Amino acid sequence: MNSTNRPETIVVIDFGAQYAQLIARRVRENHVHSMLVGPNVTAAELRAENAVGLILSGGPESVYDRDAPSCRPELFEMGLPILGICYGMQLGCRILGADVTPAKCREFGRTEIEVLESDALLAHVPSHATVWMSHGDIVSELCKDFIALARTRNCPFAAVRHRDRAFFGVQFHPEVTHTPIGNHIIRNFVYEICGCKGDWQVTNVVRHSIDRIRKQVGDSARVICALSGGVDSSVTAALLHEAIGDRLSCIFVDNGLMRNREADLVDTTFRRHFKIDLHIVDAAERFLRKLDGIADPQQKRRIIGHEFIEVFKDEAAKIHDARFLAQGTLYPDVIESGHSVGGRAANIKLHHNVGGLPAELGFELVEPLRDLFKDEVRRVGEHLGLPEEIVWRHPFPGPGLSVRIIGPVTRERLALLRAADDIILEEIRAAGWYNKIAQAFGVLLPVSTVGVMGDGRTYAGQHVVAVRFVESADFMTADWVHIEYDVLARISNRIINEIMGVNRVVYDVSSKPPATIEWE
Ligand code: XMP
Repeated sequence: MNSTNRPETIVVIDFGAQYAQLIARRVRENHVHSMLVGPNVTAAELRAENAVGLILSGGPESVYDRDAPSCRPELFEMGLPILGICYGMQLGCRILGADVTPAKCREFGRTEIEVLESDALLAHVPSHATVWMSHGDIVSELCKDFIALARTRNCPFAAVRHRDRAFFGVQFHPEVTHTPIGNHIIRNFVYEICGCKGDWQVTNVVRHSIDRIRKQVGDSARVICALSGGVDSSVTAALLHEAIGDRLSCIFVDNGLMRNREADLVDTTFRRHFKIDLHIVDAAERFLRKLDGIADPQQKRRIIGHEFIEVFKDEAAKIHDARFLAQGTLYPDVIESGHSVGGRAANIKLHHNVGGLPAELGFELVEPLRDLFKDEVRRVGEHLGLPEEIVWRHPFPGPGLSVRIIGPVTRERLALLRAADDIILEEIRAAGWYNKIAQAFGVLLPVSTVGVMGDGRTYAGQHVVAVRFVESADFMTADWVHIEYDVLARISNRIINEIMGVNRVVYDVSSKPPATIEWE
């Protein structure tokens, strides 16, 4: 950290690349802080962020398009090492005097590079290596100021460096896993070229977050945290507790739509173990009454969202002197709603888990996770002593089991689905699959399916449970999990034998898109 208490930072200028966030994550995996900024970032802003190196991301445009995004030429005069990736390489080369033209032969996917110079950027990289390309333009002419470091069959300048300045470019994508030498290149840039020390370690991250919380909240104010039992709100609460101790009050709203033992886990962890002032509000009756007879999923969501705010407001009013509200906003949510430095919003994605409580509640927000990616949040959680069951838990939707009961929600249907959900989670944990799956759950279908009882067919209201296991990196896309039949067989046997009223279990083999992860 420097004198302003900012960690040494590799700043990624985001030109709209699909992989821009991944670049920052890769840098951080190497223990160096990295952040994304918009193309209009100034030299002064970079200095304020304690930038020690710059990465220019890829982007969908061509640098010779009229409105193609560029960055300020002053950034090239700061003496900071710069790595341009794909579009970023072309942009940097163009600013420094090289020619960029459309490639005669476009290159997409895996290709082989031949290393021509084992320069600092490509130090210790094998002479031939596989890389991932995705571009329609190439740098076609290098003026005498540049040196080619690597080439491919179609691209004479697959990696370059400037003779006199610390500017490097790669036409391929080192940040994706399809480029096996990618991490090596990122490490070379970060450590050999930028001279980073590697101070982005979990202990420093926690210390840094605690300092910031204390600075924002001061010495006397109280903070309220809405705890859901999910990873983000749990780590937020644990961090705040570490920072301000008993000036933290947590509210857990039990809406009656949770899985088994959800409230117990939160109670054991936060009240009994951390000794946090925890308010568990049993509001099941209130929610279920409002949901009575409602089958439309969006209406269910609206009712639950609205009721949650009302219950939360009532409980928060009982906590005196609270000026702040803590929220588990993560860095991807921040990025997706636009860069705070350097202007120009990135792709805005609508995600269910973004949002939370409205500003009208009148609290000032404390968001201690807004600089962190999910994997970092988990490491912080482990460091603070949260149980594995919380740190590694799958996401669970705010409207809970209500969107997994197709049709109206009743106590009886909730009990059936809870019992099935319990069996599903127990079996995938026992089989060692829980941590390999992004989300695992059951869905109760509104069909009465035929069964046999003795010699006759029976239609006596027997239910179907659909089992859904998905793998996913970001929940925007997902694939169904190719799990062993044996695990499915155990789940199916147990659900049908142990839960009266369910006589059929099916496995969902649909990917997202077009199917969503939840059924409604
Ligand atoms: P879908 O079903 O859209 O889900 O593929 C993507 C992710 O969002 C979660 N999800 C929700 N989370 N409130 C939430 O807090 C909701 O209404 C909601 N609906 C879906 C889903 O579980 C998955 O992780």
